[in-house]
Amino acid sequence: TLAPTGDLVAAAVAAGTAVAAVNVITLEHAEAIAAAAETSGTAVVMQLSENAVRYHGGRLGPIAAATHAIATAATTPVALHLDHVTDDELVAAALEPPFVTMFTSVMYDAGHLPYGENVSRTADVARRAHAAGLWVEAELGYVGGKPDAVRSAHAEGVRTDPAEAERFVAETGVDALAVAVGSSHAMTDRTARLDIDLVAALRDRLPVPLVLHGSSGVPDDELRRAVAAGIGKVNVGTLLNVALTGAVRDALTDPRLTDPRKYLAPGRDAMRRSVDQVLATLRPLG
Ligand code: G3H
Ligand code: ZN
Repeated sequence: TLAPTGDLVAAAVAAGTAVAAVNVITLEHAEAIAAAAETSGTAVVMQLSENAVRYHGGRLGPIAAATHAIATAATTPVALHLDHVTDDELVAAALEPPFVTMFTSVMYDAGHLPYGENVSRTADVARRAHAAGLWVEAELGYVGGKPDAVRSAHAEGVRTDPAEAERFVAETGVDALAVAVGSSHAMTDRTARLDIDLVAALRDRLPVPLVLHGSSGVPDDELRRAVAAGIGKVNVGTLLNVALTGAVRDALTDPRLTDPRKYLAPGRDAMRRSVDQVLATLRPLG
């Protein structure tokens, strides 16, 4: 069943854990995520990034409809999130029918912009998205003090400043904040080290849940520590793609193989197992 993103994050935080938010690129991704959620009876967020929409020719409709159908048919609560949106036209589309009732939240990503511009753009999106009934995530990782040093919030070494984050949330009215605490996107090995003290400092200071991006590169024990310190939504993508591609590569060693189902099915199973693993890591203790 489709469920509001904010409810899933709040329920996870209340249970002392974080909700897993998993990237969908193909139909098989969505099926794998749903299967893992159903097997363990866990609520999850399925998320479509602007990049994934671009991959599908810039057309949000078909992949959103497919993911929404899988989310709705799932036996556990599933939220549908539009992730890392930078394109104003895509934001506008998400706030209009039919998408406004398919998606339950949106992340507006202006984390690479200087603070002031990030605030004004994010505040505008948050106001419009709230009017449309959507939960809003934004990103802040720009390190204050160097107005010209525009850097990605998830570049190595970038950190979110707690005082700036507190101001950002107050000034934008967002429902959750993606923070830069040591992870970075698209890591294919799990070697990231997080600044757990910074997570705790941000949690103490902010009235909204914290979101960890680039969680594929974070080892399980480090992820558990980050969640215990205050992360409420854990975004995972690359982990599934490593599993998918590995399984497909293995299947394709048979040169007679032509039916795509013969290699996509093991790919989908491998993705389901990797989501199983993430859900197990995030399962509340006791
Ligand atoms: O928003 C999506 C996540 O941050 C995924 O990052 O692909 O590095 O796990 P990842
Ligand atoms: Zn991300």
